[in-house]
Amino acid sequence: GLKKKEVHVLCLGLDNSGKTTIINKLKPSNAQTQDIVPTIGFNIEKFKTSSLSFTVFDMSGQGRYRNLWEHYYKEGQAIIFVIDSSDKLRMVVAKEELDALLNHPDIKHRRLPILFFANKMDLRDAMSSVKVSQLLSLENIKDKPWHICASDALKGEGLQEGVDWLQGISY
Ligand code: GTP
Ligand code: MG
Repeated sequence: GLKKKEVHVLCLGLDNSGKTTIINKLKPSNAQTQDIVPTIGFNIEKFKTSSLSFTVFDMSGQGRYRNLWEHYYKEGQAIIFVIDSSDKLRMVVAKEELDALLNHPDIKHRRLPILFFANKMDLRDAMSSVKVSQLLSLENIKDKPWHICASDALKGEGLQEGVDWLQGISY
């Protein structure tokens, strides 16, 4: 059959935001793991949609590993940026990391699509995706297509909307 086009995706965001949980849910159910642990360095995962084959670099969000991210920017064709919507204290840290990403020479002048997941929407003190979008000043991103979805990675809610958006971009 026809081979699906492969797209390299970088999954970024602070530790504990839910990156690995999201990527795990996007894999076929027989490939999903039950116990998710904090990522060390990064893991490479794959999932497919009807038209594309995504290879995901699921990076660790821990402070000591965040300097690894930039080494993979060149090969990324899309970014998934995950935010813990209930982590009000660290929203400013998430914004700092996002701003550093957007200003990086390997990212700055490319029309890379960025999919944001305002994750953990199930938690009582979670902020809305509109609020998260405001706190991260996403309206200032004018040279890249971007989209934000509220998600609950534990139940898998909101993930398909995001993947549909990613799939609709031409790579
Ligand atoms: P690092 O690998 O350390 O960067 O973290 P990560 O972003 O990969 O987070 P991970 O997927 O390991 O999830 C961290 C914790 O959040 C785990 O206990 C998950 O079960 C939990 N979690 C992930 N998504 C959600 C969600 O949507 N809602 C709730 N309530 N918990 C979630
Ligand atoms: Mg992880």
